Amino acid sequence: MTNGSIAVVSAAPEQFGTIALATLRDLLGGFDEPVVGLPTGRTPVALYEAMARRQYTFPPGARLFAIDEYCSPTRREGTNAAFFDRFLPRASCHAAVALPRADAADPHAEVRRFCAAIADVGGFDVAVVGIGDNGHVAFNEPGSAIDSGCRVIELTASTRAQVDATWTPPPETGMTVGMAQIMAADQVLLLASGPAKSEILSAALTGPVTDHVPASFLQLHPHLTVVADALALSGVSL
Ligand code: GLP
Repeated sequence: MTNGSIAVVSAAPEQFGTIALATLRDLLGGFDEPVVGLPTGRTPVALYEAMARRQYTFPPGARLFAIDEYCSPTRREGTNAAFFDRFLPRASCHAAVALPRADAADPHAEVRRFCAAIADVGGFDVAVVGIGDNGHVAFNEPGSAIDSGCRVIELTASTRAQVDATWTPPPETGMTVGMAQIMAADQVLLLASGPAKSEILSAALTGPVTDHVPASFLQLHPHLTVVADALALSGVSL
């Protein structure tokens, strides 16, 4: 199914990870030594588990970058670094996922350094993103501009509520690539699963393009592919 430049791949819930992987593989096939942005959260776990099951390895020379990280001076458990150690260990995907250091003394300098590293390799070829309950992409919370850059950002209550229950109080800030870095990717792959995402996915794909729902900016991307399960797509009429 395509809507303008949006290609939507609908997956049965139990096929979500496998189909996300097949789609990512196709997108990566267009690039030598692809530069890839990767998300965390519950949604991409099925993709990373499919990679592990199939012993998938990224193409030779792939450069992998997280798209965001919490600012967490003391706690590593629950950070995106810990997430990738668990779900995408270097040994299995043959490439390490680079992240800004959660415990950096100066997160502003750290996110600048991190984003300079992405820019040095030409920016993302493929940015894989999820969608937050409030329409955030990476940590580009509502109010983020389409040309917002890499930065430290204050997390909203809804985003803070997503961290694991033992992380109290949840982190107040995060480091994120901006909407600008995501919009500049050659290809964007948006993943969404579960009924809780149906309303926000519909707003993102068919609602007005607005900074209230940063994911709606993706409607303006020339090469957006959405892989969503039937539950997340249940509210979307394209
Ligand atoms: C976090 C991440 C985002 C992710 C979002 C959705 O805030 N920083 O990159 O897309 O959560 O998470 P989930 O897939 O768990 O709903």
